[in-house]
Amino acid sequence: MLQGKSLPMDFLVMKLSLCWICAIVVAVYAESPFAVQWSEKTYGPDGPWHAVSVELGSSKQAVDLYPGDRWASTILIDTVCSDTSTTCYAKRGGLFNINASDTANTLQTPNDTSQLTWLSDQTAAGVNTWGGVGHVKEGVLADKITFKNGLSVPSVSMASIYKANQTFTANGKEYPVTLGTLSLGGTKPTHVVQGNTFNLVSAWAHWNRSSSQRIPSYSWGMHIGSVEPDIPGSLVLGGYDQSRVLNEVSTQQVDPDSNLGALKIYFKDIGMGVATGDSPFDFEAKSSLFKTGTSNTTRGATVEIKPVLPYLYLPRETCDAMAANLPITYNEDLNLYFWNTSDDSYQQITSSPAYMSFVFGKSTSNSQNLTVKVPFQLLKLTLQEPLVEKNTTYFPCYPSDTLVLGRAFLQAAFISVNWGNGTGNGEWSLAQAPGPAIGTGSQRDIGVNDESLTASKNSWEASWDGYWEPLSSKASIDQPESSSGLSTGAKAGIGIGCAVVALGLIGLIAWLCIKRRKGSDNAQSSMGQYDSIQPISHDGTRSVGPSELNNETLNELHSDKSVHEVPGASSVRHELS
Ligand SMILES: *[C@@H]1O[C@H](CO)[C@@H](O)[C@H](O)[C@H]1NC(C)=O
Ligand SMILES: *[C@@H]1O[C@H](CO)[C@@H](O)[C@H](O)[C@H]1NC(C)=O
Ligand SMILES: *[C@@H]1O[C@H](CO)[C@@H](O)[C@H](O)[C@H]1NC(C)=O
Ligand SMILES: *[C@@H]1O[C@H](CO)[C@@H](O)[C@H](O)[C@H]1NC(C)=O
Ligand SMILES: *[C@@H]1O[C@H](CO)[C@@H](O)[C@H](O)[C@H]1NC(C)=O
Ligand SMILES: *[C@@H]1O[C@H](CO)[C@@H](O)[C@H](O)[C@H]1NC(C)=O
Ligand SMILES: *[C@@H]1O[C@H](CO)[C@@H](O)[C@H](O)[C@H]1NC(C)=O
Ligand SMILES: *[C@@H]1O[C@H](CO)[C@@H](O)[C@H](O)[C@H]1NC(C)=O
Ligand SMILES: *[C@@H]1O[C@H](CO)[C@@H](O)[C@H](O)[C@H]1NC(C)=O
Repeated sequence: MLQGKSLPMDFLVMKLSLCWICAIVVAVYAESPFAVQWSEKTYGPDGPWHAVSVELGSSKQAVDLYPGDRWASTILIDTVCSDTSTTCYAKRGGLFNINASDTANTLQTPNDTSQLTWLSDQTAAGVNTWGGVGHVKEGVLADKITFKNGLSVPSVSMASIYKANQTFTANGKEYPVTLGTLSLGGTKPTHVVQGNTFNLVSAWAHWNRSSSQRIPSYSWGMHIGSVEPDIPGSLVLGGYDQSRVLNEVSTQQVDPDSNLGALKIYFKDIGMGVATGDSPFDFEAKSSLFKTGTSNTTRGATVEIKPVLPYLYLPRETCDAMAANLPITYNEDLNLYFWNTSDDSYQQITSSPAYMSFVFGKSTSNSQNLTVKVPFQLLKLTLQEPLVEKNTTYFPCYPSDTLVLGRAFLQAAFISVNWGNGTGNGEWSLAQAPGPAIGTGSQRDIGVNDESLTASKNSWEASWDGYWEPLSSKASIDQPESSSGLSTGAKAGIGIGCAVVALGLIGLIAWLCIKRRKGSDNAQSSMGQYDSIQPISHDGTRSVGPSELNNETLNELHSDKSVHEVPGASSVRHELS
């Protein structure tokens, strides 16, 4: 009894000290997701879009990048702007001075980079046939990337762009590029380039013991948000913000065909609808707008989701089917559609709860659907100099035989990737993302073996309430109901983060980087396969070996094309459903 009394004290002491030890252990070994900081600046010339801020090299040079790439990041070098006779749009995002960094590794890139040959990918059958042709002088680079708030990753794989421009085939004009890209990983833990092992950001942060910010898994979750209306971006390494994930989540393997890790999904249909209130159209809802080729019937196809590309790359027939219902007209020079802002219905469509719905197969069996709704409010974007002389409001459908959904779509969608143990078996997820009234952020881990994410219980309609204007009397009845409660708190949540900075002019770029990116990511990634899985080039031959950078890169660009042709082929597989 007496002993019994004294024991609890001892236990208490022991317990306290154990807890203390535990706390120390946890503090030392705790793995937690890392939230990447977004830039205060926004970028065009086809946005405005959000970007993230990082610091490059030992000299910690501030650079903004479009996040969400795979394998090598694309970095614009200061030589991109060495021609002082033209406006340098790329300067605004920050250019990298390699000479100022002691940690830069450029492999065999010649000292005189003007000797690099121009690479292009004009024979592409892929997205690059969107009308633009990219020309770049590119080298290999590895250097340190430091994120604000701590995480610093050495020797990260990058493609260095010394010169770049893009031509739109229709008008023959050359355009500069504006921003590079940030890669978040690939199917392997590292990127092997010409025999050198370079790091991939999320993999290193997860596995390397010297990482000051170890993350729970080799993964990331992102909602890029929008600039108008203001939806701050969210990018979490090793986790995700649950408040950015609404309703159902679709999870599937990263593209198993190429080992490049593309995010592909079976795409069933496109529709239009109105969330609440009267319709601005002469119909309430419409479906079967996804049309391919000569067939007028809607058939599914595989689509790739790509955060570093700006538009909705869809068959011409599909874009035209949308145009038949909207006050937009096709512009041949830019291969995009311009809104007729003086048409009466323009205001109504782009300010009311009217949306486009994108219907995907929810799982591999495709029997269930996952629908992502993108309000038309997010689909009135702005073309700026140098793409157009004065600001032009456009609709981001880009006729293309290769199907890709880029940032325009991702304004309203959440994506995450779990690269797993880095043996090529990654899984990725797609879900509806909220509107401007996001609510309180809620960071969650992605565990190494997690195959799916848990969505928040928030309502998508509520996240837009107060930001769209329902039409008619019916609207005034519906609105009070839905606008109560959530939206006030939600609106408060919006303050987080991003200031909408009025942009000055910016150059155009996205494409370039994009296309560039695409060229180099595949190029780099194929160089990087340990297991010598190299993409087969267009004519069916293997790409050349790593001895000559230029040839190699060029060849990889070609093989990139064959990668892009995969969607057509793989759609056959999915059509069985
Ligand atoms: C960087 O160094 C190389 C060789 O030392 C030189 O040719 C080049 O002009 C330098 N670049 C810049 C931007 O200073
Ligand atoms: C390139 O520059 C480095 C340092 O400035 C120098 O050591 C090297 O010899 C140069 N290489 C060539 C081929 O000129
Ligand atoms: C654009 O790229 C082409 C490569 O084909 C090159 O000849 C041209 O000089 C480049 N233009 C500029 C302004 O750099
Ligand atoms: C951690 O990263 C450093 C620098 O890249 C590297 O030298 C080391 O081998 C890595 N350690 C592990 C366990 O990956
Ligand atoms: C597809 O529909 C358009 C307009 O609805 C029509 O003109 C065209 O003939 C149709 N094509 C086929 C192959 O049915
Ligand atoms: C835009 O809409 C206005 C008003 O409906 C119309 O008069 C004008 O012709 C339209 N412009 C184009 C380019 O379609
Ligand atoms: C899924 O979407 C397709 C295309 O819109 C539609 O035909 C089908 O009925 C939907 N399936 C379910 C289970 O809702
Ligand atoms: C990696 O994951 C895959 C599937 O999740 C599994 O089959 C494989 O054995 C794992 N490899 C290692 C080395 O853990
Ligand atoms: C052009 O559009 C951008 C982005 O929306 C904006 O920041 C800028 O002020 C506009 N410029 C003009 C002249 O209206």
